[in-house]
Order: sequence, then structure tokens, then C-alpha cells
Amino acid sequence: MRLVSSSTLSWLVGGLAVLPNAFSAPVLPKRASNIQLGLSADFPDPSIVGTSDGKWYAFGTNGTGRRIQVAESHDFNSWTLLDLDALPTFAPWETGNDNYAPDVIQRKDGKFVMYYSGEAKSDLRHHCVGTAISDKPAGPYIPSITPLACPLDQGGAIDPAGFIDTDSTRYVVYKVDGNSIGHGGTSLVECNNSIEPLVATPIMLQKVLEDGITPIGNPVQILDRNTADGDGPLVEAPNLIFHDGIYFLFYSTHCYTDTAYDVRYATSSSVAGPYTKNNLELVKTGDFGLNSPGGATVCGCGDRMVLHGWCNNHSERCMYHAQLTLSGKRAMLV
Ligand SMILES: *[C@@H]1O[C@H](CO)[C@@H](O)[C@H](O)[C@H]1NC(C)=O
Ligand SMILES: *[C@@H]1O[C@H](CO)[C@@H](O)[C@H](O)[C@H]1NC(C)=O
Ligand SMILES: *[C@@H]1O[C@H](CO)[C@@H](O)[C@H](O)[C@H]1NC(C)=O
Repeated sequence: MRLVSSSTLSWLVGGLAVLPNAFSAPVLPKRASNIQLGLSADFPDPSIVGTSDGKWYAFGTNGTGRRIQVAESHDFNSWTLLDLDALPTFAPWETGNDNYAPDVIQRKDGKFVMYYSGEAKSDLRHHCVGTAISDKPAGPYIPSITPLACPLDQGGAIDPAGFIDTDSTRYVVYKVDGNSIGHGGTSLVECNNSIEPLVATPIMLQKVLEDGITPIGNPVQILDRNTADGDGPLVEAPNLIFHDGIYFLFYSTHCYTDTAYDVRYATSSSVAGPYTKNNLELVKTGDFGLNSPGGATVCGCGDRMVLHGWCNNHSERCMYHAQLTLSGKRAMLV
């Protein structure tokens, strides 16, 4: 889910020209639906945190001139992009460019922890997962000196998301960015991972201390891409929640530039898995007029979600919000 270059964009626009609605700008839901446009601006890979005063904050990838963008809502319907950079400084291990897929949780002590992807100074174009702390939800977040996860030999780590289990144990899930060291592809939509041997893009679960930033032991793999599951070159953008005895792991498959980008989920009765993919698209291109929807985050409450989709003549990825219903092992857009 990296930022898109202008050359990629011109290619992408041509490639998507056959789709219905591909050039309607902005892309608004066609049917009366519960997926609604939240921000008509480039705000990829959105995540959300709710605060005790009833507000919601959404965080987005580097864009609109900010390293990490932040938006605010009182009702989850109407969103305002705040005129500030939630991550004004960056850590010594990263270049400070191309920060993406932020996620925020609140700690017991009231402080907020941001997990984010940053470009590694030692291995440009590959990323690691960093952490940053703030007293206030909108920041400024102060980055930690060392990354939380940095397996550069496997392609690096991106797309982190925090999770607090029912027993208050804290975890972070993230993607090992294997396709960044892939063997290429016949086109950009394959995200560098369609030529054999395909590289693994595992989703990892890392236990952390109550501070949210100190790892305990080694991460465990809880998911991976699989051609037979129809994942295409990768799985990414993990987001873990617990609902009614079931762990729901939401994720995206395919390349974010591909119309096959989507939101899916896997379920488990144990936090460390095994997770069973149902291989169904919860949201896909064409649903509610969306284009390449993905990068979703579901709140811990399990009833609402934010995600992105190409919009504004395919030049940007807007934030959309939706209502969700979880029942047993099923997630449904109501
Ligand atoms: C990314 O963040 C940096 C630092 O705030 C900013 O200068 C740059 O304009 C941002 N990039 C985009 C595309 O907005
Ligand atoms: C694909 O991965 C190879 C390493 O296997 C790397 O050299 C190349 O830059 C990558 N291409 C892209 C577009 O990321
Ligand atoms: C949409 O993008 C295409 C390709 O970049 C461009 O040719 C066209 O003029 C754009 N349309 C609008 C309405 O901006």
C-alpha cells in the first residue's frame, strides 16, 4: 500500500478505463447504501480511534502535505480533515518519507500510541513498523528511537494495527512486505509478485507490553497469501478485533492499484490462530460504486469500519465509512 507515483497513476487510469464509473468524480455510492464517502481527499489506509468524549479520529497515509494525516468526527458520518501533521518528526532509523498505514490505540494511562510504516534509511523503498506516543489523540506523536518490527531480509514490515485482547493483553499485527522483494510482474497491478517463486507476505502477531511499544518474545505468523485462496500477489492491511468469542482478522488481497483489491476476513477462536479465511470479498470493486476498496479498519466495537477507494478521477484514495454487523463467524455490511 505504498504511495503511487505519477507514472503508476497514468498507467492505472488507463488500466481502469473499462470499469463502470471509472471516471465519475468524485465516486459516490450509487445505491442508497451504508458505505458513504467520509473525506473527498487523498486519505489512504485509514484507521480510527474513539475517545471518551465521544469523538472519533481517523488517521491516513502521508498526503495533503502531512506525514500522517488526521481527521475528526463527532458522529462517524461527517469528517473534518485537521490542519496539522500528527507525526511532525520522525525516528533516526527512517528517512521521514513515505510514511503510511498509521493505526492508533489508547493505553490504560490515557496516552495514545501510533503504529506506522516508515521507509528504512538502511534499505530505501523498504519499510519497518515504528511506534510513536502522544498525550492527545490528534498528536503530535513523538516517535520511538527503534522500530517495533524491521525484518528487512524478508522485505520489511508495513500496515501495523494494535489490538487489545479481552484479558487486556496487547498485540500488534502487521504485514511482512515480501512483495517488495518479489521477482517482478507483467504489470504494475501485480505489485512485483507475480513471477515465480512468489514471495510470502505473512501477517504477523506480536505481543507487546502494556506500554504498547515493547515487544514480548517473537512474532507468530497468523495468515499468508495463497494463490488457491484467490489472494493474488499478497495479503496486507491486517486489522484484528474480537467479537462474541470470535477473533476477526480483516485484510486486503491483491495489489492496491488493481481492481481486485478488496476487504476480506478470517476468523479464529484463539488469538494466535489458526485463522480460517472464508475467501469471500466483504467489499470489492463495484460494490456501492467503490473502486479498489481496501485498507479497512474496523473499530473494536465491531459495528463500523473505515476504508479507502480510488476517487476524484482515480487520482486519490478517499476515505469511506460503513456500518458492519458481526454475527457468529460472519461479517456483513448491513
Ligand atoms: C508527506 O509528509 C511530508 C512531511 O510532512 C510533507 O512535506 C509531504 O508534502 C507529504 N507528502 C504528500 C504527498 O503530501
Ligand atoms: C521488485 O523486487 C526486486 C527485488 O526482488 C527489486 O529489485 C525491485 O525494485 C522491485 N520492484 C518494485 C517495483 O518494487
Ligand atoms: C481524468 O484523468 C485523465 C487521465 O489523467 C485525464 O485525461 C482527464 O482529463 C481527467 N478528467 C478530469 C475530469 O479531470
